Parts: sequence; C-alpha cells; structure tokens
Amino acid sequence: MRQIIFATHNKHKTEEIQQLVGDKIEIVSLDSLGERKDIPETGDTLKENARQKAAYIYNKYKKDCFADDTGLEVEALGGRPGVYSARYAGEKCSFDDNIDKLLEELDGNTNRKAKFRTVICLIENGEEKYFEGECKGVITTERYGKKGFGYDPVFIPEGHGESFAEMSGEDKNKISHRGIATRKLIGYLLSK
Ligand code: IMP
Repeated sequence: MRQIIFATHNKHKTEEIQQLVGDKIEIVSLDSLGERKDIPETGDTLKENARQKAAYIYNKYKKDCFADDTGLEVEALGGRPGVYSARYAGEKCSFDDNIDKLLEELDGNTNRKAKFRTVICLIENGEEKYFEGECKGVITTERYGKKGFGYDPVFIPEGHGESFAEMSGEDKNKISHRGIATRKLIGYLLSK
C-alpha cells in the first residue's frame, strides 16, 4: 500500500484524513515514526510554512509527505492575524486569548468580513504540489457555541446562521477551508 506522511503532530487531523482516503493509502503519522520534535515553521506566508514543514520531513525520511497551514484573514485588519493566527495574542497564548484580542481589535468596527485559508503542500518524489481551500464569513461580536477549536466560536461562515462552534464537525468539514483543501489533495492522490 502506498504510504504518505502527514507532517503534523495533530492526531485528530491524521485520523480524519485516513478515514477520508479509505484503505488505498496509508497516512503515516509523525507519532508512528517516533518524531516528537516541533517542526520549524518560520515562514511569512501559509504557503511557505506548509512547504517548510513538508520539506523538513521529506528531507529527513525521504518519503512522500504533505503538511498544511491555516490562517484567519480579517479584512478590517489588513489580512491579520493570517499566518500568525495561532500566536496572535502572544507566544503560548490560548484560543480564548486570541478570541479576546480579535474582538477587542474589531470593537466598534462594522466591517466584520474574514476568511479562513488553508494551504497544503505535498512533496511527491521531490516535487511540490499545492492545494488550497478558503471559507468566507464574518466575525461576530461575541462567542457562540462550544464545539470545534480556535476561532470557531466567533466565525459565522457565509450563507449560514450559526458559528463553526455551533455546527457538528461533519457539517463544518463540508464547507471549511481545511475540508476543501483536503478534498482537493485526496482527489489528486486517488486519481493516480
Ligand atoms: P493550523 O495551521 O491548522 O495549526 O492553524 C493555525 C491556527 O489557526 C490555529 O491555532 C487556530 O487558532 C486557527 N485555526 C485553524 N483552523 C481553524 C478552524 O478550522 N477553526 C478555527 N480556528 C482555526
């Protein structure tokens, strides 16, 4: 069976994509390789970060692999926090800290437009390929819902009446940035 490494320490993401590809491809986790170190992620764009993570693992294990990077781009903030979404409120900050900072920065602003964007970099036989997904929506003025993670409680996707944190994982996955990018990657992998 073909094996591809997913260069992430997030177990949930690895399991989710394994379910989606079925039994044609084995998605190899970093855990199963005994790889515990943080992967360097110092790029200024989502694409650079995805490439950097995939290249680090590809060069180390010489096996096909992919990595993803996601950011929340808020129009009124000129696209911030973008690539810095995880550490928007500072190094080692919590999801709640990030949401508090976002709501504060947007306080009184009527332009609430934002989008999540995911870039996946696949390195296959040394060649890079990219897959992207985006989900447009608005930032609310308070938290709604308890599901999901990150900015989910304050993001309502376009055309929907509830936040990502009020939706089931399955419903979110149908329209989310990561769901879209992942389905493009899977479509490519299974087409071969
Ligand atoms: P990562 O590249 O998937 O690790 O995402 C970087 C950061 O973006 C996370 O730490 C979250 O703060 C935020 N983020 C990514 N995906 C989502 C999502 O689906 N919902 C809410 N926040 C997200």
